[in-house]
Amino acid sequence: MPSYVIVGASRGLGYEWLNSLSKDTSNTVIGIVRSVDKVQAKLDSDSISNVHLLAGDMTDSASLESAARQVSKITSSIDYLIVNGAYTTLATARFNPTEFTTRAAELRKEMIESLDVNVLGVVYSINAFIPLVRQGTAKKITVISTGMADTEAVLRADINGALVYSSMKAATNMIVAKYAVELRDEGIVVLALSPGVINTQEEAVSDEQMKGVMVLMGKLQAGFPGWTGPAPAAESIAAQKKVIEEITLEQSGAFLSHKGNKEWL
Ligand SMILES: NC(=O)c1ccc[n+]([C@@H]2O[C@H](COP(=O)([O-])OP(=O)(O)OC[C@H]3O[C@@H](n4cnc5c(N)ncnc54)[C@H](OP(=O)(O)O)[C@@H]3O)[C@@H](O)[C@H]2O)c1
Repeated sequence: MPSYVIVGASRGLGYEWLNSLSKDTSNTVIGIVRSVDKVQAKLDSDSISNVHLLAGDMTDSASLESAARQVSKITSSIDYLIVNGAYTTLATARFNPTEFTTRAAELRKEMIESLDVNVLGVVYSINAFIPLVRQGTAKKITVISTGMADTEAVLRADINGALVYSSMKAATNMIVAKYAVELRDEGIVVLALSPGVINTQEEAVSDEQMKGVMVLMGKLQAGFPGWTGPAPAAESIAAQKKVIEEITLEQSGAFLSHKGNKEWL
């Protein structure tokens, strides 16, 4: 009866984690979301049961600690902790680094918002739930990263945009390595995992933002000629789950793709 906690599960891939895991009724599936009522309504309308939702905001360590106390009333341990939530924005993603010369305030604002969720939020999440992971059997912590944080991929595909997202997620990868070193002797595996490219955009995007997305897609296609475009969310989750199940303690701290290697697409 494995237990899973997905932090940042309200929509996109996080929601698909809940959907996918809930299908096996022997799983204990817990989603940490900012707005429980809204997500519960979505689960109900999609006829998804076997999911517990608890309130938690990745920028608020106390809310995550409170969520952990609630988790302990549902299950005595967490086998798989998946820190999925992220601050992502298309607002500044299309700019080259030097274009921030006249946008310093915008850059700082974006960087701090991203830092709060993608860096500090990861530390807060792991620290809040680690006592329950220690009690688990699988003892696996996965932080969702991105191939956009891989230096070689950036150079190969000429990706000069997404400065904030890429650099904050690169910091996330280092956090994973630090936890891996600390927790190795306890048999806890920590992984930074890129999910591939999946279209999870729910809100309308401006023409300028769409242009930026198209430029990025073109670069990915040129840099990785075999790539055929975004994958369905369910496919990504199945691939991620396989990597998480197969990763060993010897590999702890690694930064891998949904293929279990450095092939990001
Ligand atoms: N989609 C892709 O192609 C892709 C590619 C590479 C990596 N990734 C990574 O995969 C993960 C999921 O991506 P996605 O496309 O599903 O993202 P998404 O659609 O933008 O969803 C982001 C999720 O994070 C949650 N979140 C944001 N800030 C939060 C906070 N402070 N506290 C708690 N939850 C918070 C959001 O909840 P709210 O609804 O409350 O905002 C939402 O559930 C992310 O880590 C992303 O960086 C995605």
